[in-house]
Amino acid sequence: MPQTNHQPIRVLFVCLGNICRSPLAEGVFRKLVDEAGLSAHFEIDSAGTGPWHVGEPADRRMQRTARRYGVDLSKHVARQLSEKDLAYYDYIFVMDRENLEDVLHLDHEGRFRDKVQLFRSFDPEPGNGEVPDPYYGGERGFETVYQIVERTARRLLQHLLAAHGLKETVGLSR
Ligand code: 4NP
Repeated sequence: MPQTNHQPIRVLFVCLGNICRSPLAEGVFRKLVDEAGLSAHFEIDSAGTGPWHVGEPADRRMQRTARRYGVDLSKHVARQLSEKDLAYYDYIFVMDRENLEDVLHLDHEGRFRDKVQLFRSFDPEPGNGEVPDPYYGGERGFETVYQIVERTARRLLQHLLAAHGLKETVGLSR
């Protein structure tokens, strides 16, 4: 399904709290898209399946790790996934299988099943296919999450560019 310039590809990243993994995936993916000169072609956001952290900023530990790699999460405000998101976004990338189950639970009639995928299915080293939840662990978990998210987001962008017939514009002569 090729997109025109007027119809951005809508991409949503989903985790449980929307304060650690999905804000990071959103921030990393947005940075890659910006660097490729393709920000006009994408609409990117994140959301959590749970309500507990709505209105809060990204977890300080996640922000600190992201900042070390030049990814700014300081403006993030956590929000909860809604049924409207399922209709609105073209792609919904979830961090683990619990997220997958929760998202599909919102999809009462199964209309949006094909939009929802495990983010790590694009990871060249997918492990068990899930981005581990770092919330109750130590600093190291946040670094691990960063490494997973960064390499997966790169592959994901390559995949979407190919699927939509888009090319990176930065570095190409006009
Ligand atoms: P996230 O991490 O889903 O990556 O944002 C979590 C944040 C909060 C909680 C669990 C996971 N919590 O239980 O409050």
